[in-house]
Amino acid sequence: MGSGIAQVAAQAGDSVLLNDRAPEFVERGLGVIKRNLERSVEKGKLSAEERDAALRRITPQLEWVPFDVDIAIEAASEQLDTKLDIFRRLDELTPPAAILASNTSSISITKLANATRRAPRVIGMHYFNPVPVMKLVEVIRGIATAQETFDFVRALAVAHGKTPVEVRNFPGFVSNRVLCPMLNEAIFALYEGVGSVEAIDTVMKLGMNHPMGPLELADFIGLDTLLSILLVLYDGYKDSKYRPCPLLVEYVDAGWLGRKSGRGFYDYSARDSNGAKPAPAAIAR
Ligand code: CAA
Repeated sequence: MGSGIAQVAAQAGDSVLLNDRAPEFVERGLGVIKRNLERSVEKGKLSAEERDAALRRITPQLEWVPFDVDIAIEAASEQLDTKLDIFRRLDELTPPAAILASNTSSISITKLANATRRAPRVIGMHYFNPVPVMKLVEVIRGIATAQETFDFVRALAVAHGKTPVEVRNFPGFVSNRVLCPMLNEAIFALYEGVGSVEAIDTVMKLGMNHPMGPLELADFIGLDTLLSILLVLYDGYKDSKYRPCPLLVEYVDAGWLGRKSGRGFYDYSARDSNGAKPAPAAIAR
């Protein structure tokens, strides 16, 4: 999601430093941004000059050196220790007035803020995938988040072409508290043999007008991410209604993480004779 956030920020006119764990991840992110912008040029939605200007605003930044930024937006994987480590480093390396935001989908903003010496300037800025397309940004106030931090981030989300919605710092916020139990329930329906992958997804697509069925969406989000979010909900509320389906746990244990690993509830590995990817096939259980 980091590359998507960098893309919308650069298209909105912001200068962006793009950091990741290793050069190949930054390269991959830049490649995705280039392809997205190119597609927009081909569709006539963006001029070649606008594409080039957006790309010029993004600078790879692999070194952990002092960063002169107004805001840093962390979009690492959903692991508390990883995020705490990044927040500690950002606290050391950014100007004291800079805002530190997390694109976390469920981890406590208050906890992340407590790893820094600037809790009033720590906030959640939760984008949705694919970032260039999805209109929402959940803006999450930690218990110590200052009003001016909130105002800055709300205005930034609007400048990025998004609709900010304010929510408070409780497990899963609003989006994933509502979405993830629904996805988990779809996995239980599969686990209990109520319907096939295709049946469950077709019910929700045609019956509820969802653009993707819940199992396809779970694959899209990443099954490891979905499991992490459910565990945050389960631990946070101590309520069995959030218990992850054993089938989800089994898939994650197998390394079947959805689209990113080539296999989840669907198989993403097949290619046709031209090397193009056809629509993924549901895997029968
Ligand atoms: N990056 C950038 N743009 C993309 C894209 C991507 N990965 N995928 C699709 N698009 C663009 C296409 O270029 C196209 O743009 P134009 O309208 O300008 O032509 C547009 O999106 C529609 O794409 P398609 O026609 O190819 O496909 P579609 O109509 O099936 O839409 C979709 C694809 C937008 C992904 C749609 O299936 C969808 O909305 N799915 C649900 C997505 C969703 O629920 N996301 C939230 C996940 S939860 C999350 O992110 C947060 C969390 O904490 C877990």
